[in-house]
Amino acid sequence: MTDKGSPSSGFKILPGHFPSAEQESLVAQLREILIKAPLFQPVMPRTGKPFSVRMSNCGPLGWVSDVTGYRYQATHPVTGAPWPEIPDVLLDLWHQVAPTSPLPEACLINFYEPTAKMGMHQDRDEETFDAPVVSVSLGDTATFRIGSTTRGGKTSSMRLASGDVVVMGGESRLAYHGIDRILKGTSTLLKNGGRINLTLRRVTRP
Ligand code: SIN
Ligand code: FE2
Repeated sequence: MTDKGSPSSGFKILPGHFPSAEQESLVAQLREILIKAPLFQPVMPRTGKPFSVRMSNCGPLGWVSDVTGYRYQATHPVTGAPWPEIPDVLLDLWHQVAPTSPLPEACLINFYEPTAKMGMHQDRDEETFDAPVVSVSLGDTATFRIGSTTRGGKTSSMRLASGDVVVMGGESRLAYHGIDRILKGTSTLLKNGGRINLTLRRVTRP
């Protein structure tokens, strides 16, 4: 495990954690998941402004955003079906990086077109912040920015390439973070380009 300059304690990047064959297999599983739970277009609470990413989820709970707010729910907002299961390879990852935490309940799937980005935010819609947030990057490299637990403080920027894993635990669990840009054409994993980020989270108290 490498600690590429930690903005605060508990933050880790595991560069190249997934070798390319495992990335290919994960993408094949995600394609099956996205047939059952298609990407949907989330919008901002109140304003209804569309996000630049499209989303789906797997796991017992999925994160959604619409005009009424952000929340976790057990079903897809468009189809009404329960979310598909989290692939075993992601549960294995969780066991490796968060061995003492209860299982993740949500795996958010974010799809970034090359022009998409994600504003600085905290992940704080969960009932408990004891477990880390664990994320996997697939496809084009992204510029990821992370700061402290207060908005507007000092931030640092780093690149996340396909196969990299990020762990935001400890103090960094509530750190502000976002995606400044996608570096188009940096990966051939996704045949039409772009980036997928998978975010595993524990939502409820065990
Ligand atoms: C997020 O914070 O929701 C996504 C982070 C990423 O795409 O790496
Ligand atoms: Fe986030």
